[in-house]
Amino acid sequence: MLKKVYYDDKMLFLKRNKDHVIVSPENFSYIKVNEELKFLITSIMENDGQIELDELSDKILHKFSKKATPQEISVQINKLIDTHIFFQKHEDLILNKNNSIKENYKNIDNNPKEAYIHMSLRCNLNCSYCYNKENINNGQHELDTKTWIDIIKTLQNEGIDHFIFTGGEPLIRDDIVDILKIAKTSNTKTGLLTNGTLLYNKFEEVMPYLDYVTLSLDSLNEMTNTLNRGQFGFKSILTLLERASKDSKDKVSVRSVITKNNVAEIEQFHKIIKDKYGLRTTSVGYLPNKFDEINKYVHYDDSTCNGSNIGIRIKPCGACTNLIAIGPEGNIYPCQCLISKENTIGNILNDNWKQQVSDSRITKLFKNLTVDDIEYCKDCEIRYFCGGGCRALAHNIYGDMSEAVKFLCEFQKKRVRNILTSSNFKWEDFNHQHF
Ligand SMILES: C[S@@+](CC[C@H](N)C(=O)[O-])C[C@H]1O[C@@H](n2cnc3c(N)ncnc32)[C@H](O)[C@@H]1O
Ligand code: SF4
Ligand code: SF4
Repeated sequence: MLKKVYYDDKMLFLKRNKDHVIVSPENFSYIKVNEELKFLITSIMENDGQIELDELSDKILHKFSKKATPQEISVQINKLIDTHIFFQKHEDLILNKNNSIKENYKNIDNNPKEAYIHMSLRCNLNCSYCYNKENINNGQHELDTKTWIDIIKTLQNEGIDHFIFTGGEPLIRDDIVDILKIAKTSNTKTGLLTNGTLLYNKFEEVMPYLDYVTLSLDSLNEMTNTLNRGQFGFKSILTLLERASKDSKDKVSVRSVITKNNVAEIEQFHKIIKDKYGLRTTSVGYLPNKFDEINKYVHYDDSTCNGSNIGIRIKPCGACTNLIAIGPEGNIYPCQCLISKENTIGNILNDNWKQQVSDSRITKLFKNLTVDDIEYCKDCEIRYFCGGGCRALAHNIYGDMSEAVKFLCEFQKKRVRNILTSSNFKWEDFNHQHF
């Protein structure tokens, strides 16, 4: 007969309508329980994990006027053990804390599958927030068409199966179709991130070679959009929306950056995009490019939106290991937000580029760093949901890629709690769920 159980002393108890969400942050366990089960768990915890089945049975009867036999309680406790909320032995609790999930993350090989292709860092807009502002239109050397074709083939041979064309404005290169034709095969996915100003004229040419297009647009109100993204090309984007709504609804979506200028209108704007044009929408909070810009960040909470979700994040992201970015001159960077000389991890034109990437100090940092290694995060109760935040933000704001993205902490904590307790939260996405 079970006499005692062990558990995470940082257990979180959240309320979700009539249910409770119980999170054992150290053990990657998250369950949804009813009032009675929550009472059972807290009663056991109040008794320092000691199991007195008869006493628990009496307590439940007294509290809920409901009979729960010692056998029934025992079954529930065993379920709590199966879902790693309780542990039979103290060693199991400790072992689980250092469990294989974390180790697997640490042992991830750097074998990127996605490449952000920047054939050019020229752009015909000058968006107020652009994370590539420093690189835009600064006369960088650009490789020619033939060299890009060779690069795409090399990447395909090395297992890259998802190409994301971005920049700068990717459509500024006249040879974009030639490159897309090579990039798109039956085994690869191709995406285009574009400001949309040049797309209408190239629409028929490029669409057959693209799986998806993400059109950046922040408002249908010209004044608002201009504040974020400048005035140029607004009318042509409206024509483009009409065109996309005809036969490309499944491929084209609108992505907005949320700033103080458009936050009040964003829901209405996205509703129109969906209702009038039939296109999907996404949004991202404006990411500050330096410390002085933190106060411009808009804490837009999408946690109650449909589809908003969270998952286990032990590593902050897949930069260097799952994805890379290639610049106009062939330099390789950890991701599209870390394009600079100091963050170069290799050059794709070098025969030895794979070795350069794996030998790079930055790749090693991305490969090994988990949220537990970030001093500021290591005791945070939601750290395995948060992962410690975007490393590009850490670098750009705090000047250190291993730093926590502290300015987002409170917001992250609120968001994770909101999602876990939201009625839209998809429990089936989790391993350890409910009874
Ligand atoms: C750098 S742009 C390049 C592709 C293209 N020029 C465009 O605007 O879509 C890629 C995406 O990043 C977004 N973006 C740029 N700066 C950002 C920032 N500071 N925070 C969040 N998103 C940003 C843009 O709105 C765009 O959706
Ligand atoms: S259009 Fe894209 S690349 Fe150009 S400035 Fe705006 S966000 Fe940056
Ligand atoms: S960044 Fe903040 S919220 Fe995220 S894990 Fe670290 S301390 Fe927690």
